[in-house]
Amino acid sequence: MDHREPTRMSGLARLRRAIPADAAGIAAVHQRCWYETYTGILRRDLVLGREPHEFTCLWTEALAPLSTWRSHVVEIPHGPILGFATAGPIREPEGDADGELIALYVLRRHQREGLGRILFEAARDTLATAGYRSMVARALGLNPACGFYEHLGGRVLADAERPFRGVLVHEMSYVWTLDAATP
Ligand SMILES: CC(C)(COP(=O)(O)OP(=O)(O)OC[C@H]1O[C@@H](n2cnc3c(N)ncnc32)[C@H](O)[C@@H]1OP(=O)(O)O)[C@@H](O)C(=O)NCCC(=O)NCCS
Repeated sequence: MDHREPTRMSGLARLRRAIPADAAGIAAVHQRCWYETYTGILRRDLVLGREPHEFTCLWTEALAPLSTWRSHVVEIPHGPILGFATAGPIREPEGDADGELIALYVLRRHQREGLGRILFEAARDTLATAGYRSMVARALGLNPACGFYEHLGGRVLADAERPFRGVLVHEMSYVWTLDAATP
């Protein structure tokens, strides 16, 4: 962890940068959140069709030293990871936006404890510090996370049907302008 980064806490949980050794822990949280979030929103076969090894491979690669993605976790010190956020260059160009909040997940039993905001701000500050001018976040239109992004000041950038794992889904894109001085 960069010692210049201020430690942010919410209750007992602590924010820190993710390291390669977090791959299994983040994959486990992602997998659990994937089922918690998308059951009832996405077709059942799409929710259940994602294999455990997909999550492990994704996070092993995402946390590798040469990855362009930057991740943070919130955890109970010496305990489990409760949530994580990942930011990086935008994956699918949208307007002139250059940065993206690629993933933001908090375990359901720890939602509404302030952890999502802490992770969101860590991702946003990481992109701002790296010189990105904007941050986009995408969520399925039926996902309550849209309300969270709107509450945190996201402007609607797009509201469209998009292909997702072989089906068309309604997806919202939000954007925030970044200020290099924010952090
Ligand atoms: C979206 C998510 C990250 C929010 O995390 P969280 O820890 O519950 O949010 P916080 O407790 O930090 O809430 C921060 C603020 O947002 C508000 N908020 C949280 N969820 C909200 C929602 N669904 N709608 C509107 N406002 C919301 C809170 O009331 C709080 O407001 P305040 O600080 O002004 O009092 C979390 O619900 C989650 O992980 N969802 C499942 C995964 C997901 O959908 N990820 C994003 C799409 S990929």
